[in-house]
Amino acid sequence: MQRIYLNDDWYFKAQFTEDLCGPEADLSGTEKVRLPHTVRETPFHYFDESVYQMVSGYRREILIKDEWRGKHLLLTFEGAAHEARVFVNGVSAAVHYCGYTAFTVDLAPYLVPGEKQVVAVRLDSRESLDQPPFGHVIDYMTYGGIYRDVYLEVKNPCYIEDIYAATPDVLRDDKTLKVDVTLNEMAPDLELSMCLDTWTETAPEDPSLLQHWDFEPEKVRFKTSCLTEEVNGAYLWSTDYPFLYVLTVTLKQAGQAVDSRQVRIGFREISFEKEGFYLNGDLLKLRGLNRHQSWPYVGYAMPKAPQQLDADMLKYELGCNMVRTSHYPQSQHFIDRCDELGLLVFTEIPGWQHIGGTRWKKIAVRNVREMVTQYRNHPSIILWGVRINESVDDDAFYHKTNQLAHELDYYRQTGGVRYLKGSHLYEDVYTFNDFIHSGHNRAVTDRDKAAPSDSPYFISEFNGHMYPTKAFDDEAHRLEQALRYCRVLDAVEGSEDIAGCTGWCMFDYNTHQDFGSGDRVCYHGVMDMFRNPKLAAAVYKSQSDAEPVLEISSSMNIGEYAASQMGDIYVFTNADSVRLYKNDLLIGEFYPDEDRFGSMPHPPVIIDDLIGDQLTEKEGLSEDAADRLKALFKEYTARGGELSPVAMARAAAFLKSRQLTFEEAAALCNKYISTWGDSAISWRFEAVKDGQVTAVRVKGPAHERMLRITADRQTLCEETGYDVATIHIEAIDENGNRLPYYQEPVCFETEGAIGLIGPAMISLQGGCAGTYVRSLGRSGSGTLTVKDLYGEAKVAFTVELKG
Ligand code: GAL
Repeated sequence: MQRIYLNDDWYFKAQFTEDLCGPEADLSGTEKVRLPHTVRETPFHYFDESVYQMVSGYRREILIKDEWRGKHLLLTFEGAAHEARVFVNGVSAAVHYCGYTAFTVDLAPYLVPGEKQVVAVRLDSRESLDQPPFGHVIDYMTYGGIYRDVYLEVKNPCYIEDIYAATPDVLRDDKTLKVDVTLNEMAPDLELSMCLDTWTETAPEDPSLLQHWDFEPEKVRFKTSCLTEEVNGAYLWSTDYPFLYVLTVTLKQAGQAVDSRQVRIGFREISFEKEGFYLNGDLLKLRGLNRHQSWPYVGYAMPKAPQQLDADMLKYELGCNMVRTSHYPQSQHFIDRCDELGLLVFTEIPGWQHIGGTRWKKIAVRNVREMVTQYRNHPSIILWGVRINESVDDDAFYHKTNQLAHELDYYRQTGGVRYLKGSHLYEDVYTFNDFIHSGHNRAVTDRDKAAPSDSPYFISEFNGHMYPTKAFDDEAHRLEQALRYCRVLDAVEGSEDIAGCTGWCMFDYNTHQDFGSGDRVCYHGVMDMFRNPKLAAAVYKSQSDAEPVLEISSSMNIGEYAASQMGDIYVFTNADSVRLYKNDLLIGEFYPDEDRFGSMPHPPVIIDDLIGDQLTEKEGLSEDAADRLKALFKEYTARGGELSPVAMARAAAFLKSRQLTFEEAAALCNKYISTWGDSAISWRFEAVKDGQVTAVRVKGPAHERMLRITADRQTLCEETGYDVATIHIEAIDENGNRLPYYQEPVCFETEGAIGLIGPAMISLQGGCAGTYVRSLGRSGSGTLTVKDLYGEAKVAFTVELKG
């Protein structure tokens, strides 16, 4: 039987009281809520982490059909932060000590007569809990709530408890599929049958590529059956072509089907070796980012669509082939989407720097068990993180976590994220947070100084706190963040014994008082909290060839710079070259900087000449004189509007030989570099690929401002609960360029079948913002109105109910 989602009709009370568990609760102090739910909506920033720390209560009535009696009624919570005690009809039925893994309660032993059964949850979201990640400071907020799906499965007395499908030997034609099927209990006359089908949602249109295998049924002799099948001609799963299959396992008793389960799998071979990471036998440099699972206002509580959108953004907006789910297992919706996109995942147990006592460690070991068993069928997962992020060595503890991960999954390697050089290597891969780069020094640590030279090696974090960057920081600051990414990515791409790296991090996030910029935000992202890209995002995006990328580091406004000296312009692009036009005059064609960033797939293009041939053509200077004058201008701008004594002497000699006064030279500089007095300058950048112009950006003084409002989806579909659309808002000029210092307010109003998540009035920050709308449980149309100081815009939505 299918899952019955129970995401609606919960009652929530900010303070748990025993009566919530009883047959007739007093619901006066409760609020009717839908899951995913957060115990407390928070402001965007400047709030205290105490606001979500409480012992709250949830209650829901579940109607049990008569024919379900005598069966197992498995109620699964995909995520309840952080200690959840579940009461069924007033009896304590289970307690779970991890906010980041799923757990299941069988309601059957606790049923009372009649249809109505009561499930209540005492949920403790205090950070004083003696379980990971708590015990010391943490650089992220931990929120609270039943924040993932809850569903019920009705099972016959004997059922399939677990399926573990692995695909070793995939590089041969006759691929092997190994499936361990575990039953809840043994019973007489049991048989298992399996079949495998192409997962049709990503399958190509060509029907000849659709495949199906039926395998010989096998008698069940033990609680766990290990089945090995040959699957000739199955297609491989890869980052470019993530071909997926659905494995259906049916349990029969005396010839009658008593249970059936499906898992989605992919055939691929993965291996970290000293020389890097291999996918299906080919070396692949891993390039990615770390992701937290948080959003403004609702913390962790977002349903499927925004979870999936993050994976899509990593792949398409950021050109990544990998993500690290720092610092805990994340939503199955997110990982499912990674499977579909071919986005590789490094996932890890919850924790942050601190290792607790005996009970705490026991829970951490259990977390390894839950993480591996709950996620091991995902082809996208390539590494288990079995160490508490950035913790010190603890031989006994980490031997246990490693051993357990290997026992539960013989085909995946382990890593363990540390900031320590030379720490004990219990895992298969030395996964190191390398924060050495501070702007002017080396980009990455000498890997042989950090790890045994024959170990596989991966950089799990870099940048982050070394250079916090806000979307509203000045241009030079935003550029420096981007360049730090270039330097590290280039060094990693160029190294023959670093498998790859995941930068810190995908987007800004709310954090504790000990971290961040004082407003409870860590501005470490290449995107802001709403997932609006900063300049550094373009560094990532431009490494992929999926679509033309052309992002310019500057708005071309000299007043943004000290002494009006703008310096070099960086272009993040995947083009072969960039042509720059000043109005319609070609200034020059510029090429990727192979000298400084030669290992990156697409080095940035550096524009270091805004004058071109104008000094010869318009001012009548010889080529030699023009070059010398440009060199002087370059030094002058690079030094922020002054010359060194040596350059001063050179300048004096040059001016004398040309019979130019200092004032005349300064006027040329103003005219061609500072561009004062030019009434309508427009800089046009053209990306050229294979001789064709593939993208154009125009920069010049902004004369107009408008809001660009985009919604990731305008049809909200309720299948298992409410659905959410993500709205991005950007202030742009008439050429589509973001206005980075536009900080004006916008107001939101919703009508019809949708509601707003978060406040109805916010200010743009750094020229951008966002909001979220959710479906309200009824079909129909809805409208989001966005008003600003100058007008309003409407976005139309349709809500469909499919539950
Ligand atoms: C690391 C840590 C991350 C984050 C980052 C900031 O040490 O693992 O969670 O705090 O620093 O740069």
